[in-house]
Amino acid sequence: MQNIFAIKIMFKKATIITYGCQMNVNDSAKVKKILENNNYEIVNDINNSNLIIINTCTVREGAAEKVYGKLGELKHLKLRKKNLIIGVIGCLAQEKKDEIYKKVRHVDFVLGNQNIGKIPQLLETIENEDVKHINYTYDEDKLPDKVYADFDSKITAYISITYGCNNFCTYCIVPYVRGRERSVPINEVIDEINHYLDKGYKEIYLLGQNVNSYGKGLDENVNFTDLLKEICKIDKKFRLRFMSPHPRDFTDELIEVIKNEDKICKNIHLPIQAGSTDVLKMMNRGYTKEEYLYLIEKIKNKIPDISLSTDIIVGFPNETDNNFNDTFDVVEQVEFDNSYMFMYSKRQGTPAATMDGQIDESEKKARLQKLIDLQAKKSKLQNEKYIGKIVEVLVEGPTPKNPENYSGRTDENKIVILKSDQKNVGEFVKVKIYDAKTWTLYGKII
Ligand code: 5AD
Ligand code: SF4
Repeated sequence: MQNIFAIKIMFKKATIITYGCQMNVNDSAKVKKILENNNYEIVNDINNSNLIIINTCTVREGAAEKVYGKLGELKHLKLRKKNLIIGVIGCLAQEKKDEIYKKVRHVDFVLGNQNIGKIPQLLETIENEDVKHINYTYDEDKLPDKVYADFDSKITAYISITYGCNNFCTYCIVPYVRGRERSVPINEVIDEINHYLDKGYKEIYLLGQNVNSYGKGLDENVNFTDLLKEICKIDKKFRLRFMSPHPRDFTDELIEVIKNEDKICKNIHLPIQAGSTDVLKMMNRGYTKEEYLYLIEKIKNKIPDISLSTDIIVGFPNETDNNFNDTFDVVEQVEFDNSYMFMYSKRQGTPAATMDGQIDESEKKARLQKLIDLQAKKSKLQNEKYIGKIVEVLVEGPTPKNPENYSGRTDENKIVILKSDQKNVGEFVKVKIYDAKTWTLYGKII
């Protein structure tokens, strides 16, 4: 995924190129705000920029090559424009640090995720002193500098409540690049939420690699449900979502809180990664197929209107046809509303990358396609259940294809297309659903 933020400026222009997950999109939104506060205009034209920042991802094989490719493209620009500043932030910056300078001489700075607040100081140093190759990738295990962002939608604000991960799933690079898990104190999270609600945001999305192990590294003895309950005490109308919880840390108390608190959306993204207990063990996930299914059953019993989504990896080393059938079986049984499905990708530096029994790409593709087809069928069936229902939709804005159509989301995170106008954007409206496709519902404001 690649996003180019458009930054407009009075004096200097900057482009931010973002790869990767919501955490990176979140960091880029903060960098954008920092630059704007420092008289930069954000543009999406690298030829017309004084500063280019690439926010990098390393989750899948090939991601690093993509970044090096992009940096290579910038070389001629740097030769032409001596004062152009090029910076690399994000996971690759954290993981490769010195290698980036060795491979790409025209990079001016490499900055770790927890240091983005130092950008103004760093730019000043580069502009005023004759320095090359600034490295700010230390303090890996500290909380990042506190920075507020302007999110493009002006409706949903993303707030990181934990950083890093202690789980070491064997396919995943995150614990190596984002450091050990640490939590933002409750009062700071609440302050941040109030800041965004005061600015008119209507939806708060809590982010973390493993949100429901929240509390690690804090002096006070608090857990994720304590945090959720405190947030729900804020006396304003807003929706609360979070991503991603880990099945192993999903307590009965958490199910109760989701059920009882109206502000918490009735939608849970609960990554399973694989349906086979053998594969889950090789992945070091800490639960079995049966435990996952039991958890889902408990959730559905307590919260019948819950919508569920998941992440799945197919073709992990040594995954047999039978193992894959277990994954297929879970998708068949659980009836997720949506699944994010990936072919296993070898990440150098993780234990799974050197395991014997790597699966052929063609086999991975075939397994992925089977799952995609099954999920599409399930998503359509789930959506059809909404026909005739009246739901509350938070209107987000006109659709890119047809500006007369607006889109928004239900509490269960279903996308709804409806006829509206600008005055409803950012508002909660009651909508009657009259049609359902695989990925979208169609409704009429009542
Ligand atoms: N290969 C494929 N998918 C991966 N993910 C993480 N690491 C890998 C990998 N090496 C997926 C997981 C995770 C999502 C964000 O990315 O499903 O939940
Ligand atoms: Fe990676 Fe596992 Fe941590 Fe998620 S929980 S970030 S998959 S190590």
